[in-house]
Amino acid sequence: MTASHCPIVVLISGNGSNLQALIDARTTGGFTISAVISNKADAYGLERAAKAGIPTRILDHREYPDRESFDKQLAQEIDAFSPQLLVLAGFMRILSAQFVQHFAGRVLNIHPSLLPNYRGTHTHERVLVARETQHGVSVHFVTEELDGGPVVLQAVVPVLPNDTRDSLAARVARQEHLIYPKAVSWFAAGRLHMQDNAAWLDGQRLGNTGIREYTQ
Ligand code: GAR
Repeated sequence: MTASHCPIVVLISGNGSNLQALIDARTTGGFTISAVISNKADAYGLERAAKAGIPTRILDHREYPDRESFDKQLAQEIDAFSPQLLVLAGFMRILSAQFVQHFAGRVLNIHPSLLPNYRGTHTHERVLVARETQHGVSVHFVTEELDGGPVVLQAVVPVLPNDTRDSLAARVARQEHLIYPKAVSWFAAGRLHMQDNAAWLDGQRLGNTGIREYTQ
């Protein structure tokens, strides 16, 4: 398999702006998107995928009795496309240990905070309440620890005095759309992998916060 043809599957739950960034970058980034799978039938990202000619699947978690049975079916749907990498792009589901083990080392997530700070939800609001002066976004490998897997790449943005939740979220989102395609292209080129619960880039073990980019 050449670096120009690394097949990925993207999981979404909503708007899909990160999916759009991946769609726009796939040719230059050296990867192809084999499928987009959503747990929500009304996710706008499904329209973005269809417009780009990418196969879509909807798997509604409410139709399954428990997390394990949903995740088992989800894994089967993903495996049918034989991706080298699974990319979570606003997929708002906690994944079972079984699922994570099945795809170990082959799942990336994007989280709107400077991990390990502000795991979980409502990160922008919590950053504003805490009067932080810096915020940002992290791309990380997924492990069984929620939002706790090895960080690959972070973009740091300033928190400005008059920021609202929306202005801060927009500043972070601009960086999300730059760093996610970059990290996926590193994986596609064989430059990035996970080993010993750490992220490695070009043979170097990355530290706790991965590669850091400072932006305005
Ligand atoms: C993004 O901000 C992403 O970082 C966040 O959901 C949003 C999805 O937006 N992910 C998480 O909070 C995961 N814990 P999008 O659907 O427009 O890409």
